[in-house]
Amino acid sequence: PKRTVDYKIVLLGESSVGKSSILTRLQNNSFDDNKSSTIGAAFISKKIIRNETDLINLQIWDTAGQERFHNLTPLYYRNSNTAIIIFDLIHLDSFKKAEYWINELETYIGEESIQIRNDIDNNNNNNNNNNNDDSLMKIILVGNKLDLLNGKTCNFENQINEFIKKHSKIVKYFQTSAKENIQIIELFKYITDNIDDS
Ligand code: GTP
Ligand code: MG
Repeated sequence: PKRTVDYKIVLLGESSVGKSSILTRLQNNSFDDNKSSTIGAAFISKKIIRNETDLINLQIWDTAGQERFHNLTPLYYRNSNTAIIIFDLIHLDSFKKAEYWINELETYIGEESIQIRNDIDNNNNNNNNNNNDDSLMKIILVGNKLDLLNGKTCNFENQINEFIKKHSKIVKYFQTSAKENIQIIELFKYITDNIDDS
């Protein structure tokens, strides 16, 4: 690789939605049915080579979803380039918590410091956002535990769509399964592909 890029990511979301499981899948390609709840926060780093020329060094903070740790989370999202807000596709309560995290980021990072979605992008084949700006934080929404839907649509699919429409600061939405390894690679590939290489 000709160049090394450090890139910071934070995972936010209610306890038990699968934040740590998504990272275990990314790091070890494994899954644990009885994963213990994160205490405080955890950190992993993952090196990804892009286009044979760039070494992307992802520095990922896995926050604790339990309420008693919420006062710590600003320490982890404050310097992040991307925030992944995760909910569980079978628990409406966990989805409602996503709104709390968006509001928290808008308040403490500042609305002007968060990337706005480029909807025009959906109409062409070019995957790269042309208004992509690495000085801005990007917010990605993830519905995890897709395997538990057994091929059915999520019960609150309409609410998810409304929510994305309302929040133009969500640049992308993924449905994942840490358990069955669905869309995990794609999620992190989307992030690394959209890191500005200028
Ligand atoms: P906190 O650390 O408390 O914030 O929770 P977390 O968001 O890190 O959740 P964690 O990864 O610990 O997962 C919680 C439980 O959900 C564990 O029992 C996992 O095995 C399970 N789980 C995580 N991802 C999936 C998934 O994609 N499908 C299914 N079926 N279960 C999952
Ligand atoms: Mg955890």
